[in-house]
Amino acid sequence: MNNFLEHVPVLIEEILENLNKFKITDGVIIDATFGLGGYSNAILENTNCHVYGFDRDPEVRKHANKLKEKYSNRFHFFQKKFSEIDDTLSRKNYSRKKIKAMIFDLGVSNLQLSKKSRGFSFKLDGPLDMRMSKKGIKAFDIINHYSQEKLSNIFYNFGDETFSRSVSKNIIQFRKIKPIKSTLELAEIIRRAIPGKRKKIDKATKTFQAIRMFVNDELNELHKGLIASEKFLTCDGILCAVSFHSKEDKVVKNFLKICQGKSKLFISKFLPPEENLPRSFEIITKKPILPSIDEIKINHKSRSAKLRIAKRTKYNSIFKNNVAA
Ligand SMILES: C[S@@+](CC[C@H](N)C(=O)[O-])C[C@H]1O[C@@H](n2cnc3c(N)ncnc32)[C@H](O)[C@@H]1O
Repeated sequence: MNNFLEHVPVLIEEILENLNKFKITDGVIIDATFGLGGYSNAILENTNCHVYGFDRDPEVRKHANKLKEKYSNRFHFFQKKFSEIDDTLSRKNYSRKKIKAMIFDLGVSNLQLSKKSRGFSFKLDGPLDMRMSKKGIKAFDIINHYSQEKLSNIFYNFGDETFSRSVSKNIIQFRKIKPIKSTLELAEIIRRAIPGKRKKIDKATKTFQAIRMFVNDELNELHKGLIASEKFLTCDGILCAVSFHSKEDKVVKNFLKICQGKSKLFISKFLPPEENLPRSFEIITKKPILPSIDEIKINHKSRSAKLRIAKRTKYNSIFKNNVAA
């Protein structure tokens, strides 16, 4: 239905259905992962809501500008990270308006993946970069300067790569001869370190995912974004999170567990964990919503997507002492 910039947003029909189901027809919606603007555009087209789009990538601004031309004061864009949402909304007093939904569509965009100069793809020849914000430490620095142990830990912890040790060993051997500069070079080094025939999924997939997650501090960022949703969503407002792999999904699930009072929240190691806290969110999707077979046929990338939805209750935030307005 939505072909803004010829980009097919994942699970957008299901998100629109839920906005409708929870009677979110006006007020403010935060699109925390603006990307190519697919979600923002669909929401602006199908509701009377205002949309605040956030994205850390400076390259998305040109797409945001197009949407601004179309929707003027119903749309605002902020080139900010999840960890800056709290500060941005607080400083500008945007939080005075009722924030009725906050939506995260995690991971990289097609814009990032398909541009070889960004260095996200192991299929395109590009520099080892992978920085969504185009600031900070690059994949090159990690690959060429981190110890073998540190590299193994990154590949294992963020990519579940069972051959993390042999991959890191191979990297260290290669970089003794010359620095590893390109994505294709790195992908080949990774593939050679992993035994067995070529699989359906490229052998470089997990290590590339791990490096990207580390470079962009993705899990910490996500956690901070979710905390902002608890703080700013109005009572009965909804949180929608689309994740693409188990690490992201686990952060969302654990966050919601804590907000249910089901998981113990450790405020300090010197204090006993707080228990029996009131629930700040009611989980709407006991099991995540998955894309339909039709959607997967049209958009292969959607095959691993999982959408979780939770509704903000009237109770105080568990992470920060705020009540939903
Ligand atoms: C999968 S894309 C979103 C696509 C978007 N829903 C659409 O329909 O066009 C994810 C976007 O989130 C952004 N992003 C990822 N982590 C972020 C963070 N911590 N803070 C802000 N933006 C982030 C990326 O830069 C990327 O543009």
